[in-house]
Amino acid sequence: MEQIDAIISQLTLEQKADLCSGLDAWNTFPIKEHGIPSVLMTDGPHGLRKQYDESTAMLEQSVPATCFPAASTTACSWDRDLLHEMGAALGSEARKQGISMVLGPGINIKRSPLCGRNFEYFSEDPMLAGELGAAMIQGIQSTGTGACLKHFAANNREYFRMVSNSIVDQRALREIYLDGFERAVKKGKPYAVMSAYNMLNGSYCGETPALIRDLLRGEWGYDGLVVSDWGACYNREKGIAAGLDLEMPYSGEENTNRIMRAVKSGTLDEADLDACVRRILSFVFRCAENKKLPYQCSMEKNHALARRAAAESAVLLKNDGFLPLKPGTKVALLGQFAEKPRYQGAGSSMIHPANLENAMDAFRRHGICYTYAQGFSLENDTVDEALVAEAERTAGGCDVAVIIAGLPPRYEMEGIDRTHMHIPQNQAELIERISKIKPVVLLLCGGAPVEMPWLSSVSALVNCYLGGEAGASAMAQILTGEVNPSGKLAETYPLRLADNPSYHFFSDDRHNVEYRESIYVGYRYYDAAEKDVLFPFGFGLSYTSFEYADMRTDAGSLAPGGTVTVSALIRNTGGIAGAEIVQCYVRAEESPVKKLCGFEKVFLQPGESKRVSFTLTDRDFSFFSDGWRLMQDAHVLIGASSRDLRLGVIVEIPAGEPLPGYPVSADGHWDAVQFYSLFEKIPHITFRIHPFTINATLKDFDSVAIGRTVHRLVSRFVEKHIDPGGYMGHEIMLQLLEENPMRVLVSMSGGFFTYGMARGVLMIVNGQIFMGLLAFFSAYRKRRKQKIKSKK
Ligand code: BGC
Repeated sequence: MEQIDAIISQLTLEQKADLCSGLDAWNTFPIKEHGIPSVLMTDGPHGLRKQYDESTAMLEQSVPATCFPAASTTACSWDRDLLHEMGAALGSEARKQGISMVLGPGINIKRSPLCGRNFEYFSEDPMLAGELGAAMIQGIQSTGTGACLKHFAANNREYFRMVSNSIVDQRALREIYLDGFERAVKKGKPYAVMSAYNMLNGSYCGETPALIRDLLRGEWGYDGLVVSDWGACYNREKGIAAGLDLEMPYSGEENTNRIMRAVKSGTLDEADLDACVRRILSFVFRCAENKKLPYQCSMEKNHALARRAAAESAVLLKNDGFLPLKPGTKVALLGQFAEKPRYQGAGSSMIHPANLENAMDAFRRHGICYTYAQGFSLENDTVDEALVAEAERTAGGCDVAVIIAGLPPRYEMEGIDRTHMHIPQNQAELIERISKIKPVVLLLCGGAPVEMPWLSSVSALVNCYLGGEAGASAMAQILTGEVNPSGKLAETYPLRLADNPSYHFFSDDRHNVEYRESIYVGYRYYDAAEKDVLFPFGFGLSYTSFEYADMRTDAGSLAPGGTVTVSALIRNTGGIAGAEIVQCYVRAEESPVKKLCGFEKVFLQPGESKRVSFTLTDRDFSFFSDGWRLMQDAHVLIGASSRDLRLGVIVEIPAGEPLPGYPVSADGHWDAVQFYSLFEKIPHITFRIHPFTINATLKDFDSVAIGRTVHRLVSRFVEKHIDPGGYMGHEIMLQLLEENPMRVLVSMSGGFFTYGMARGVLMIVNGQIFMGLLAFFSAYRKRRKQKIKSKK
């Protein structure tokens, strides 16, 4: 630290400001004369995306890397050790590629099944998300690679994600949206935390002292780096004052100049800038030092681990006795996913897989005797009668049909939320038609829950989520019984989308997102509202069965600061070895809402028993109301899922207090007045429509005639210059551009679109057409001359 302070004392104001943003899209800023190196970071979270072109944040070709299953998949393993191992494998590959920090894990709460990025997140439950996130961080960092926990905080939808304001009451914030971060920060100690794009209660996450300085650093004791999400900086000097150390990527000189101006004019305390620089330098020197550590990386081992992770995360949701397949079963393998696997989600986490398998090859290797028919096209949703007829003929000649179905890539991606929970019509139709001919075993792929009106037509259902590059052989292992499925759902599958508690308050407003359901998220809601669900949180079957018995506790009551240890005896009562995920929930006696407070995965041979125990702290028996307070007497429940709780004890809490009364709504229509009463001041934001600022989006421009013309010109540009065959077609690219404010288009463009050009556009849409055109073209000429892509 002394050495760092000595360096800081020699830096000029400009050098300090320079250090507070990247060199380009992925590297930190070096200053050779002071011995400050540059370090490289890349996405994450389920593999490395090291772009060949490091100057741009746009999605470019990347170096092949192991593509592990996505977080929505590995969450179903409920296995901290597995996540630790996966983290270590990621870290080892990072070392091999010279990467100092992996941008992950992401642990945002799945508030709605529609969030386009749910595949990158673990769960609707903060404890599960936080624990798995912490394990992954520890794994990554065990190799000398840093981990970056993201996206802090309340970033739960993609729609207008850079200008939307999450309005969340304090109890829901602390108990649901921040709890996982608190666990992951305290246990995992990540090198960095990434501040989210959105605003939280009226202020950008990266500019909120209460969030970064007071809570993260103050209350939780975090001493690492805080980095912006890519392009998330709005008012940079406010960010520095709040403790947002590093802006990524480099966005041109604009923000460097802003920081310097603010210090010179006295609106920003130089001590705040120094504090950011100090944290940046300790991060950079730590990473540079780590490069000297030895490491071992085997791509073969990582591929095998990716397969194990996929196999141990698959969730058996239904089995009428068809699985595992009997040896010699003649299989009709149906669905284009068998050729073109769906194994990861789209967006910044998209890996160039080093060794991608498909089901056709993997099933052959595992001795599954099959005949393949495509059944449907992944390009569209239309039923193709010829493909269905071919599939029917194929099924007719076999014993069982294995259909691989689910969400095609165009259905879910970063930046764009889903609008429904269906699988494409051509797939649903295929399932129904084939089930009339032969028993159907369905292998479901996708990063998020779907509605299943066809469920009764299938004889067995395995949810494989997004299995990564080796997901296909994991499927084969489950089908043949080489692996006994042991995954359990990390999120509730509602019967229908409208049952989700955020249904009426998810994307009704571009800017203000009211989290009206408060703490009633996921199973907390479905259980409290007594709603039937398709599959409950924590649910998953096995090829064997387990018995729960003999619950014990070491204490019948809890005092402040105390603990209670509970345990139960779990026995494998079936004929084959298997693993069971044992779950422990706490529920205040006066409330219908229970919360997960412990989980363990236990492996048992047939007939074997093991005692599984959970030590609960007073925090597990607390709720948030101006501080953590103990609840009154509580039930501690142990079981196989949130709706299959088999054992329970009561713990008396003499010092407990009554819970605050925010009622559950059976139909999801929460009352505005009651919701607003949870706030001292309603934290809504009003976006100034006119004159447009650097925070305006193309969609905002539509409110004036000249703005519509600019919007049209951009659409034409996209049509002309974006490859429609690329993974992001015109429509998607345009939608992303339309929802991003001008400032983000600048920072993400790698110098293609500069602040000067953005200012020109703003003058045009604000009515100064001639001056605006002049400003735009002079900035454009300047850019062509300078070709600034980075500070290099
Ligand atoms: C995403 C981050 C990601 C970053 C860099 C952003 O758009 O939200 O999760 O790490 O880009 O690719």
